[in-house]
Amino acid sequence: MTDSDRFPTDPDRKLADRYQEIARLAGGLAHEIKNPLSTIRLNMELLAEDLAESDSARDRRALRKVRVVEQECQRLQDLLDNFLSYTKIRALRLEPASLNEQIERVLDFFRPKAKQAGIELATYLSADLPTVLLDREAFHGALLNLVLNAEQAIERGGQIVLRTYATGDGVALDLIDTGCGMDEDTRSRIFDAFFSTKSGGSGLGLPTTRKIVEAHGGQITVQSEPGHGTQFTIKLPVPARLAAGGTK
Ligand SMILES: Nc1ncnc2c1ncn2[C@@H]1O[C@H](COP(=O)(O)OP(=O)(O)OP(=O)(O)O)[C@@H](O)[C@H]1O
Ligand SMILES: [Mg+2]
Repeated sequence: MTDSDRFPTDPDRKLADRYQEIARLAGGLAHEIKNPLSTIRLNMELLAEDLAESDSARDRRALRKVRVVEQECQRLQDLLDNFLSYTKIRALRLEPASLNEQIERVLDFFRPKAKQAGIELATYLSADLPTVLLDREAFHGALLNLVLNAEQAIERGGQIVLRTYATGDGVALDLIDTGCGMDEDTRSRIFDAFFSTKSGGSGLGLPTTRKIVEAHGGQITVQSEPGHGTQFTIKLPVPARLAAGGTK
């Protein structure tokens, strides 16, 4: 969906133009910040290498401070990358695709991380899901945000379950984790840009995921119980022309 589809009437059109202008300016600013930031980071790395070779106590203290600057540069870089991917969600390149295959792709990437964290992955992927229209790259990013959040919510050992099924007019995915869950106040704010309860979190993961899902004509909902876990559900429509011939 483009912004002109979202704001069809005249006053809405003006709003859409203004929104686009602000998004463009903010995106440009983020880009401009990235270049000097990477120069600072590179120079900090070189300085750290020099200081690491020294035996003096003063240089060791300086090295610790340089490491802090390096970490903060990394944090800013991640924030800018997340911000740019949030503002950049453009008109999608939709192609017929299998939701199950997309999930397998994300899990191939995530499996080693899950193993390391002692997280069990369980999948119940319906064998006869109808084909949907997906922008594979954007949708991969959307799913990955959810899976990473699930992993971060699980402190020590736990389970992530992915389940797909056909609905009356589309397909759905449930992503369930046995993590820390959320209270009502947190749950009501998770799709707000920059809302995060994590130190170093950008708070752009879920807003980006929602924007991508909605750009596919879908919806994302959440249910959560503090101390028990969280379930996200994504529903996607199946276009009539694809509804007849289903794939897995
Ligand atoms: N599966 C989950 N279980 C518990 N809380 C969650 C879960 N997913 C999201 N949250 C809550 O929603 C907040 C916002 O999530 P979002 O992905 O947008 O940002 P983030 O994860 O904090 O930062 P980033 O995605 O940049 O690392 C999180 O900080 C967390 O409080
Ligand atoms: Mg996140």
